[in-house]
Amino acid sequence: MSRKSTKGKKKTTAKKVQKPAEVNAKIKEIKETKAVEVKVQETPVQAEKAEKTEISENRDKRDRAFVERFERHFDELKWLYIELYENDSMFAELCDNLYRFYEERRDGLKALDREREKDPSWYKSNELLGMMLYIDNFAGNMKGVEEKLDYIEKCSVNYVHLMPFLDTVEGRSDGGYAVADFRKVQEKLGTMEDLESLTESCHKKQINVCMDFVMNHTSEDHEWAKRARQGDGEYMSRYFFFNNDTIPNMYERTVPQVFPATAPGNFTWLPDAGHFVMTSFYPYQWDLNYKNPRVFNEMMYNFLFLANKGIDIVRIDAVPYIWKELGTQCRNLKQVHTIVRMMRIISEIVCPGVLLLGEVVMEPEKVVPYFGTVEKPECHMLYNVTTMATTWHSVATRDVGLLRKQLDIVNSLPKEYVFLNYLRCHDDIGWGLDYGTLGMEGKDERSHKKYLNDYFQGYAGDSVSRGELYNSDPVSGDARFCGTTASMCGVEKAGFEQNEDAMERAIQFDVMLHAYMFMQSGIPVLYSGDEIAQVNDYSYKEDWKKAEDSRYIHRGKLSWENAAKIDDPDTVEGKMFQRLSQLEKIRKEEKAFVSYADAWTMDTWDESTLAIGRYYDGDKIIGVFNFSEYDRMAWINEDDGLYEDLITGQKMQAVGVKVPAHGFYYLKKVE
Ligand code: GLC
Repeated sequence: MSRKSTKGKKKTTAKKVQKPAEVNAKIKEIKETKAVEVKVQETPVQAEKAEKTEISENRDKRDRAFVERFERHFDELKWLYIELYENDSMFAELCDNLYRFYEERRDGLKALDREREKDPSWYKSNELLGMMLYIDNFAGNMKGVEEKLDYIEKCSVNYVHLMPFLDTVEGRSDGGYAVADFRKVQEKLGTMEDLESLTESCHKKQINVCMDFVMNHTSEDHEWAKRARQGDGEYMSRYFFFNNDTIPNMYERTVPQVFPATAPGNFTWLPDAGHFVMTSFYPYQWDLNYKNPRVFNEMMYNFLFLANKGIDIVRIDAVPYIWKELGTQCRNLKQVHTIVRMMRIISEIVCPGVLLLGEVVMEPEKVVPYFGTVEKPECHMLYNVTTMATTWHSVATRDVGLLRKQLDIVNSLPKEYVFLNYLRCHDDIGWGLDYGTLGMEGKDERSHKKYLNDYFQGYAGDSVSRGELYNSDPVSGDARFCGTTASMCGVEKAGFEQNEDAMERAIQFDVMLHAYMFMQSGIPVLYSGDEIAQVNDYSYKEDWKKAEDSRYIHRGKLSWENAAKIDDPDTVEGKMFQRLSQLEKIRKEEKAFVSYADAWTMDTWDESTLAIGRYYDGDKIIGVFNFSEYDRMAWINEDDGLYEDLITGQKMQAVGVKVPAHGFYYLKKVE
């Protein structure tokens, strides 16, 4: 129990811990401004209530909204915190700081919070379309992005994910995921003021802003890491330090490797410090020790500081990794969920308009728990990662069977859950497929992965894809894959060969995949450049800071020269852009695309065609997608009236639908 009532004794449920001076002063201030009568010898429940009343009555005058939220969540937050940390004074400090960050929050953001609180499903409509972009690749710096908001609007995008932009050291940045200062923007990209100005301009255009919160680790150039390296125990305790390899070796027995080829192992020896430090990712990314409540509190302050800059969506990077226990895989441990739940509560109290997006690149049964429960939610949104990987499997095999199974799993989940759907992102594609099912078809995991990697590198005879392997591990035979959507669909090959027919086919394929992706429940997110079918960029090989990491192949600079062609329907860019725009328009206009609509897959009796149905409030749409380079017949049998293809306006029956090579239909029931 951290706060005492003004009078009398009270029983406490947790150990009494010396409070820091600041907290004592705060309590004194509260006592002086408002005396609350509390009966002597009260029960723990009464004491707890009195404590809350005391806090709330004093703050009530200052802000009702905060007090109401704080009251609503206090019991649970305290329970979780004390259970994890058994540290009252740190909890008291956290509570004080929640108010401080609330006070600092701009009025405009508070108004938005209240609006979103009234309509908590605001992000579940069919109106959101995302785009992820690296600020420098897109427009040089933050000011540049602000100047290009008209282009973002023209792309129908109203959710822009600004890839990591916080301070990092070039050459040791992992694409910005090694943060050296959570309160400073990389100099080349701008300042915190620029960020605020950008988020304000975005909000004026109804564009939501997403940023990464890299909470699993800091860069070795972070202030804490520097002090830890110098032997300061206080800071060493914020990481995992060991003066010999005994415990690191014990961890290595059970903890898998994230980057087996580019950064093997989970520990790094620091010769100057004479210690090993835990580094699950690159050696310059030091894992934070969340067993230390100081780490949790400070990281929550960083999170709130950033949220207060006008961020709408916080992507929690590598979230499954944040809690470590010897003898486990150090992934998805139950304490991770306690922390994410606390983070959700903290944001509900201070900035309830902010959404949490969890980056959980794992198999479906590990992903879904990050939504929490309907009563105790954790993340608002999660990446639909298995669907993404299975989509590319279907591309390489022309067989949609596994994809259909995966979509059925997703469609059977509660409609409250919102997935972020995507074809490509800034990372590699890891082949996390349902090998149990593939095994029953006689497909062996190792050889299947090899086939997929060969296929997408363009080695298989009928492949039009181009791209490169990532973290190819000769021991396990495992490798992941990198390339842009357009390159994987054949745009790069057709362009190189100057083959116009092949180019038409590649664009058709690319558009079909987007049409299918838009048909899934959730929020579609494009990768910057996909709207103009941008291909792989091999120039990273000439830059020593990037050469080792093939993910840079799909992180090229946006070509504004090509983007200038979007209005010209005779160009690749114009064709791609205009056809995507049509799909985006349909998706936003048709209510059957809302995230909470009924969605299901249908039999087509054809292994290459996928049929997805959506129904909401009297509207029914059936999407039919051909994953092969041949015309196919989808034997759907929806004999319930006339349908209209929303793309061409053609009226037809949804019975035995002939779908051209890589073609698709959006069939809406009209009669
Ligand atoms: C996430 C990012 C990835 C990064 C890793 C380490 O998985 O998406 O790019 O390498 O976290 O921070």
